[in-house]
Amino acid sequence: MKRDDNTTKKIDEKLQGKALNFNKAAGNHKKVFIESYGCQMNMNDSEIVASILLKQGYNTTTNIDEADLILLNTCSIREKAETTVRNRLKHFNKLKQQKPQTKIGLMGCMAERIKEKIFDEEKLVDLVVGPDAYRDFPKLINELEDGRKAVNVLLSKEETYADIEPVRLNSNGVSAFVSITRGCDNMCTFCVVPFTRGRERSRDPESILKEIQILQDNNFKEVTLLGQNVDSYLWYGGGLKKDFDKQPEAIKKQAVDFAQLLDLVAKKFPDIRIRFSTSNPQDFSLEVIKTMAKHNNIAKHIHLPVQSGSDRILQLMNRKHTVAEYKEKIDAIRKYIPDVAISQDMIAGFSTETEDDHQATLDLMDYVKYDFGFMFAYSVRPGTLGAKKLADDVPHHIKLRRLREIIDKQQAHSLYRMQQFIGKEVEVLIEGDSKKSDKHWMGRNSQNAVVIFEKTGMEKPGDLVKVKVNDCTSATLFGQKV
Ligand code: SAH
Ligand code: F3S
Repeated sequence: MKRDDNTTKKIDEKLQGKALNFNKAAGNHKKVFIESYGCQMNMNDSEIVASILLKQGYNTTTNIDEADLILLNTCSIREKAETTVRNRLKHFNKLKQQKPQTKIGLMGCMAERIKEKIFDEEKLVDLVVGPDAYRDFPKLINELEDGRKAVNVLLSKEETYADIEPVRLNSNGVSAFVSITRGCDNMCTFCVVPFTRGRERSRDPESILKEIQILQDNNFKEVTLLGQNVDSYLWYGGGLKKDFDKQPEAIKKQAVDFAQLLDLVAKKFPDIRIRFSTSNPQDFSLEVIKTMAKHNNIAKHIHLPVQSGSDRILQLMNRKHTVAEYKEKIDAIRKYIPDVAISQDMIAGFSTETEDDHQATLDLMDYVKYDFGFMFAYSVRPGTLGAKKLADDVPHHIKLRRLREIIDKQQAHSLYRMQQFIGKEVEVLIEGDSKKSDKHWMGRNSQNAVVIFEKTGMEKPGDLVKVKVNDCTSATLFGQKV
């Protein structure tokens, strides 16, 4: 037995009894290298795939040169995300010349969007797997091993990978993602997600609680419940969200919605800090706000993407709320949870956006004064209603100018929000060393602000400590442990 295998075996033995999937199994001789792009859901999907492949004889590796299989978990959300993957593929030309037996696979949204056409466009790709087809990996790998190209891009009505315990990749051992829904039924006209991730379905709450229990047993201290639209979570025994209305009353009565799920998780795991992402304003309910207010272990942060501050643009985007309704939700959130952090996603330069529409976005930002945000120039996605029915008529340089104005305003607001913490004590969950210095810890407070403070030798990652804030930038708080 090689030394490596011995070490692996020892680690495996140490973990025995604690049911957390490790990224190596002693008998495995093949290696998979997984690189993830895009959203948190993709990061979590990679962990699910690593778990499936572990049972197929593949350990994960972070050294691409020793990989038998390279998987890129891709994103399609903007054109740039796809260009990044295509550029990355070019790097593999040399590798494939040196080691022709290495197989290269695309998974995730780009695989789903382009399907087997990618084999013609990118000659070195051997495998294409869509987000609902990961269970098919064993069969697909057999096909690869027979020297064939392999593809499965079928979308599913039921798949939630509920029973698959993810292998925690790149984990800090403190916080982890737990998927609760898959797909999206909203059909925002700019968004490719409903086409790449299919219709919305929710995961059995039992399996969610079980996964969090395993994380807790392994000393994890924070979970982020994930979905494209978590507020739309609805468990009624399985199946698509859109089929809920057709269910008999008895089934409907027993359904669990997102506020109830949050409540269940918060009650069962008082020592775990709970986050969730992403919320959609149209589905975000007062019940969720009240549940957050009720439980101290639910983090005081809501990511509530609005995309635009203009009613006309929101309508064109097929967002199902007005600016006034959005502001009402913001007011309700602040009423129940006064010290909450609110963050946004914005799109600059959507079809027909005028200077007035853009100004309305800036005005809404002034109203909310978001803690932070993710801001993008509109990028037309093939297949969406935006691509089919609406002109991409805002010139690129104008999109970029508006985006800059949005980003500048956000930076000013972020700085303002961070300054409010100066002189105050915040509760920080330590995640690990600060990137810049191993004499400092990095963690986050409940509002999701990054906090850096000097180590005292008394604390470790996973500890919840009090820090007095004495300085900040627009993105980071600095302080001292109290
Ligand atoms: N509900 C999802 C949204 C996914 S997309 C979630 O879980 O986050 C994330 C963000 O990307 C969107 O909120 C939107 O601001 C941005 N986005 C989506 N499609 C886009 C496009 N075609 N062009 C520019 N930005 C886009
Ligand atoms: Fe996309 Fe809108 Fe769903 S942004 S993920 S279609 S809520």
